[in-house]
Amino acid sequence: MCGIFGMTGVGAVAGTLKALKLLEYRGYDSAGIAARREGRIDICKTEGRVAKLEELVCSLKETDVAIGHTRWATHGAVCTANAHPFLSQNGKFAIVHNGIIENYLELKKKLGDDVHFTSQTDSETAAHLLERNYQGNVLDAVLHTARQLKGSFAIVITTVYDEKLYAIKSKSPLIAGISQKGACFCSDIRCVSHWATSVAVTPDNTVAELSSDGVRFFDFSGNPLSVPFFAPEKAEAYESVEGDFMLKEIREIPARLRIAKEGYVRSGGLHLSAEEARRLKRIYLIGCGTAYNSGLQVAAVARQWLNLDIFSVIASEFIYDNYIADGRSLFFFISQSGETADTVRAAERVTKSGGLTYAVTNTSESSLTFVCKRTTNIYAGAEYAVASTKAYNCQLQTLTLLLLDLGRMRGSVSDALYMEIFGGMNFLPEAIGDIIDNSRILINLAETIKDCSAVFYIGRTADYPTACEGSLKLKEISYLHSEAYPAGELKHGTLALMDPAVAVVAISTCDALRDKMASSITEVTSRGARVISVSPDVFTDATPVILPKIHPALAGIVSVVPLQLLAYYVAKALGRDVDKPRNLAKSVTVE
Ligand code: G6P
Repeated sequence: MCGIFGMTGVGAVAGTLKALKLLEYRGYDSAGIAARREGRIDICKTEGRVAKLEELVCSLKETDVAIGHTRWATHGAVCTANAHPFLSQNGKFAIVHNGIIENYLELKKKLGDDVHFTSQTDSETAAHLLERNYQGNVLDAVLHTARQLKGSFAIVITTVYDEKLYAIKSKSPLIAGISQKGACFCSDIRCVSHWATSVAVTPDNTVAELSSDGVRFFDFSGNPLSVPFFAPEKAEAYESVEGDFMLKEIREIPARLRIAKEGYVRSGGLHLSAEEARRLKRIYLIGCGTAYNSGLQVAAVARQWLNLDIFSVIASEFIYDNYIADGRSLFFFISQSGETADTVRAAERVTKSGGLTYAVTNTSESSLTFVCKRTTNIYAGAEYAVASTKAYNCQLQTLTLLLLDLGRMRGSVSDALYMEIFGGMNFLPEAIGDIIDNSRILINLAETIKDCSAVFYIGRTADYPTACEGSLKLKEISYLHSEAYPAGELKHGTLALMDPAVAVVAISTCDALRDKMASSITEVTSRGARVISVSPDVFTDATPVILPKIHPALAGIVSVVPLQLLAYYVAKALGRDVDKPRNLAKSVTVE
């Protein structure tokens, strides 16, 4: 959440603006750039999107040092005054910040009444502290400030006193990048990998100083640190799309599943020793949002063939609970970005207590991969729409492969079952391609759903997580009220909400539970609600969206696709900004 960037080099303002466009998925409430030139720092900032900043930024003269920010508000309303960068009172320092300075009220008090704050943010405190701490040496002022801050922060600083950039990093992500054209600090490795020849992941509790000689790192006491630089994996070039990223990304699912399967095989599968696999007692699948739903889904499937306890836990809940995390517990931390603060914190907790940790991610060099012992890439390719789609399908397939491998090592998955499911994956791209090619029915259904007062998604066992993901997609991009329920649970409260203004999406892929779902559908239609069934079967009184028959262990990878498309078309019918829904961000780097 919040994208920060700072660069030195020719055309720093234009370079920063370009970077902010790539970082906008991290937050898009407001944006701003500070340009440092001899003796002064000029700022241009605005409420709204980077596109609006682009119209205004011509007021800034080009220069060699600039910092920029794209905001997802935590402290203070969405307005230009609360947009970053912030200047110190004397105008000699400017900062951009990602994270939360938890002790900002205490620090504000310490700064005293002479310091005039121009915003309601926690971030501005850092700019004033730098001014207060400056006694002729910028690095000392930065180190002193770093020691005073509590919370999570990646802060990039420019100053009139020299042409360097400085950064303070604790918990929030910060990459340093170097190229022939200049050097930068940035929130996101993908954003720098197009042009940087060499990058470093800044460790926690570090101050960094970027000058024409390169980047130097220090701990908060000022002791030099050695941080390795490496050549980044080239990210796909950011292309603008005609239409929406979300639809483009759904259309990529078939191809991405093929790539992900090949990638998994190439990577050598589950890197667990026979002894570790044999001793296991339990598995945890931990994530947030869509990533959590993917864990929920795979747990429901793998429970059928792994003789182990499998728990899916929301990362922010896991941190404060008391789950067993010893050497007999295997943890899969699932995160498209690898930067979600709650997931990273949960992984840190487990690492300390000796659990076996895996990052299952789309970003192989991220905060999460640095915390976890092992990493498995999901190969979904860059995902820009805030609502995650193709990453979910790839997470499901990769986790299924990992747990199948584990089952084989432990002897609970026979070679025949393994081959059935592994081979079944070859049919997924075509099955999903057919659903995408026949979206007309979903476009029509979207028209009927868009005026509903609420949309409920129901399913049993492995279809329930699919219901959760369908419901999440709909609420985040259409803003319609939506909930997911295990179908059998409806009668314990939620049936009270059924009336003709309500729609129910019933997902049913399990033959053995077909009749149970038929009863649930009758329960809601007899209370006036309209029902859409998503199933290989047809149900009385429900409008059918027909699914192809797929191996039950893989059904969720397919059945979610019409739900992703339905959410997309409902949001379009309501005129929503599908790729950048209100109040959300793609990468949530605050707890
Ligand atoms: C945010 C995004 C969701 C995403 C979740 C977890 O809430 O808007 O789309 O599922 O974060 O993100 P991660 O990168 O950890 O998968």
